[in-house]
Amino acid sequence: MSKMRAVQVSRVGGPLEVTEREISEPSFGFVRLKVEACGICHSDSLTKEGHWPGVQYPRVPGHEIAGSIDALGAGVAGWKVGQRVGVGWHGGHCGRCVSCRRGDFVTCQISPQIPGITFDGGYAEYVVVPETSLASIPGDLSAADAGPLMCAGITTFNSLRHSGANPGDTVAVLGIGGLGHLAVQFSAKMGFKTIAIARGNDKEPLARKLGAHHYIDSEANDPAAELLKLGGAKIILATATSGKAMSAVLGGLGIDGKLIVLGAAADSFNINPLFLIGGRRAIAGWPSGTSIDSQDTLAFAALTGVRAMIEEYPLERASEAYERMMSGKARFRVVLRINK
Ligand SMILES: NC(=O)c1ccc[n+]([C@@H]2O[C@H](COP(=O)([O-])OP(=O)(O)OC[C@H]3O[C@@H](n4cnc5c(N)ncnc54)[C@H](OP(=O)(O)O)[C@@H]3O)[C@@H](O)[C@H]2O)c1
Ligand SMILES: [Zn+2]
Repeated sequence: MSKMRAVQVSRVGGPLEVTEREISEPSFGFVRLKVEACGICHSDSLTKEGHWPGVQYPRVPGHEIAGSIDALGAGVAGWKVGQRVGVGWHGGHCGRCVSCRRGDFVTCQISPQIPGITFDGGYAEYVVVPETSLASIPGDLSAADAGPLMCAGITTFNSLRHSGANPGDTVAVLGIGGLGHLAVQFSAKMGFKTIAIARGNDKEPLARKLGAHHYIDSEANDPAAELLKLGGAKIILATATSGKAMSAVLGGLGIDGKLIVLGAAADSFNINPLFLIGGRRAIAGWPSGTSIDSQDTLAFAALTGVRAMIEEYPLERASEAYERMMSGKARFRVVLRINK
């Protein structure tokens, strides 16, 4: 059997190591992809640092996959070899639990499948995935552009389009990293008054270039007070990896405002119940979306020009690329280029 290069984590907290593995054949209902690009998401730290329960090691991370179909398993219909496709966080579901029976596959209660977590992901030359996880990539999007849209993109696009905000409403994006810089673009293109909130002022010019109408430096000012000066937010999309940072903006929600938590922060935050009650305010979480949500994200990005700002690394330098993302210095998404 032929071999491929892959990058794996062998144990909790272990390094990302380049390895050689056998190329698997896709079984019934699965397809094999030739990976061209894979974005590095902060959530890859769940695999690397062992923060997701039940991960079996060695594991190949990566859930921002873009490439083309290389082989079809038995029973696959509607997809063909050579077709350009992407795969994101939602890699499969049980089909039997209450969520799945409602058609809500993303909150599958029994066996949610996630590339890079429950099965090997996209830090590799080839990956085998269920056909239900595939999203078609429009012709005018490159693999490097499509990769980050498969998690950072879909999560921000999908949460915004279901947020209840209407054109002209105020949307604040907290944390301008991989997710945040796409959120700013989607928000502006959807017609929301868009406010970027980040630490320090070095990101201000880029945030404004990406479409932010206002910028708040959360280190120089109280971000909640600044939001209230701008009329209060209908939506705060919290992509920061800090619960403390989320607490600090909460007071900037307007009447009927909602904080949507995207960032998987390890620390918790306090909420004053009267603040929620008095202004009908709400706090909600949002998990990515399904493959058709990914396809909608790709189509919207192709239509409106939303693109991730990326830094490209070859597969062999995955470890360095991951550290670059974790350092917060990347502008703004690090993408592995594979089979280029
Ligand atoms: N809900 C979902 O479905 C979903 C999907 C994908 C990712 N995620 C999660 O979303 C989060 C962001 O992912 P990402 O890939 O965008 O990460 P990233 O590129 O590393 O960006 C994280 C951002 O968080 C902010 N931040 C970090 N530490 C902070 C602190 N102490 N105080 C305030 N802000 C801080 C930084 O913003 P500034 O420097 O601009 O202030 C940074 O740009 C991660 O927790 C990830 O696991 C969730
Ligand atoms: Zn992700």
